[in-house]
Amino acid sequence: MYDRLIFEISKQGRKGFTFSQDKTPEYKLDESLKRETSLNMPEVTELDVVRHYTNLSQKNFGVDGGFYPLGSCTMKYNPKINEELAQLPHFTNIHPLQPESTIQGALELYYNLELLLNEITGMSAFSFNPFAGAHGELTGLMIIKAYHLNRGDYKRNKIIVPTSAHGTNPASSSLCGMDTITVATNEAGLVDVAELKKLLNDEVAGIMLTNPNTLGLFEKDILEISKLIHEVGGLLYYDGANLNALLGKVKPKDMGFDIIHLNLHKTFSTPHGGGGPGAGPVGVREDLISFLPNPHVVKKDGKFHLYESPNAIGRISGFYGNFLVCLRAYVYILTLGKENIKNVSNLAVLNANYVKESLKEYYKLPIENNCMHEVVFNGLVNEKATTLDVAKRLLDFGYHPPTIYFPLLFPQSLMIEPTEVESKETLDGFINTLIKIAQEAEENPEILKNAPYHTPVRRLDEALAARKPIIKYQDLLNEI
Ligand SMILES: Cc1ncc(COP(=O)(O)O)c(C=O)c1O
Repeated sequence: MYDRLIFEISKQGRKGFTFSQDKTPEYKLDESLKRETSLNMPEVTELDVVRHYTNLSQKNFGVDGGFYPLGSCTMKYNPKINEELAQLPHFTNIHPLQPESTIQGALELYYNLELLLNEITGMSAFSFNPFAGAHGELTGLMIIKAYHLNRGDYKRNKIIVPTSAHGTNPASSSLCGMDTITVATNEAGLVDVAELKKLLNDEVAGIMLTNPNTLGLFEKDILEISKLIHEVGGLLYYDGANLNALLGKVKPKDMGFDIIHLNLHKTFSTPHGGGGPGAGPVGVREDLISFLPNPHVVKKDGKFHLYESPNAIGRISGFYGNFLVCLRAYVYILTLGKENIKNVSNLAVLNANYVKESLKEYYKLPIENNCMHEVVFNGLVNEKATTLDVAKRLLDFGYHPPTIYFPLLFPQSLMIEPTEVESKETLDGFINTLIKIAQEAEENPEILKNAPYHTPVRRLDEALAARKPIIKYQDLLNEI
């Protein structure tokens, strides 16, 4: 049964608003702009509307409501101070087309955030134009392309991507018009360096790597890999989506990376956006700065300016960037400070290893080594139910399931990223629940196969739900 929808509780004449007659100015609307038929809107009271939206909001799962160990996504808590400052009217009311002289404070914030990110990553400059990690990847690859073309080196069109890579990496490479070459992963879950050597030649434009990789493992051969790629004239692109594991400890520049993107919505605790606002700033080494997309904030004679480089790859977004998301990241970094920022990675890695050690008796661990900020299991040890069944059963206990069936390297991948923000009590609750689910699978696997039992909808046909989503009231009525 579904909850009653707002159209169904509509009663003619019911109102949820009042306009004060004397304070509302009159406006004579041109006849041509007037509707011919009245709009079919539900007529409801304010209380009806409040209940409708409150109930809807409670059907959504968010970090503020519960544990969200979605591997690879770093669903960590966004401190409320970030939100409070991002809501200050002086920030929310500025417009990207205002003259530079009136937005000096905003430009200074971008400038300062760039200096902080340079310090954290070892890069020489950042552009805040990209709106997401994948958008940053495309921007970075365009810079790699521009760099080679600018040197008159026209045949470099190959981008090497490990088999363990996040799906956006090969997608960005294709979108940029490059040929994607995959390099194998060895038994330890790392880039197979011997295989990599076989792929190297003067057509290689670069390699895209995330470290730790999507198996949550540190690519310990990174210095050798960077030497090999540089020797054949390629560049190293760092997919910084996993920087949470190294924050304040290791600078991507010191691992040999030339270009990087950061997912502010992961490591720097800004909202994930859900397809909406995000930020994937791109950082580069010194000699690549002029290729960064336009415009770029620079400081001259004590004033901040939006500079347009003639060498730039062009524009990759409408204006300069997602200001309020960057502002939240700035607040987050300043709130933590230089010393505390290291604890982010310390705790993220500790938490993931705690989960790993606590569950390895019940869930298959394909790679035994210490993990970084996330751990990948390969289904139940007893194999009495699938990873999908486990994920569905977790919903009944109020947890957001981990990422499932990714990475693609194992058939029953279950990828858990607890993040640094969770307490031992929360982790213990989650671990005990996963152990209980493993025991249920042993004793009565049907319980798992029919889960979930306590959610607004039960087990959906996920392919159909994605391809033919029911998002309109009328469509829902046709279904029931
Ligand atoms: C390793 C990795 N790279 C890239 C991305 C893409 O980032 P975005 O979702 O912001 O485009 C993700 C996102 O989950 C990721 O985990």
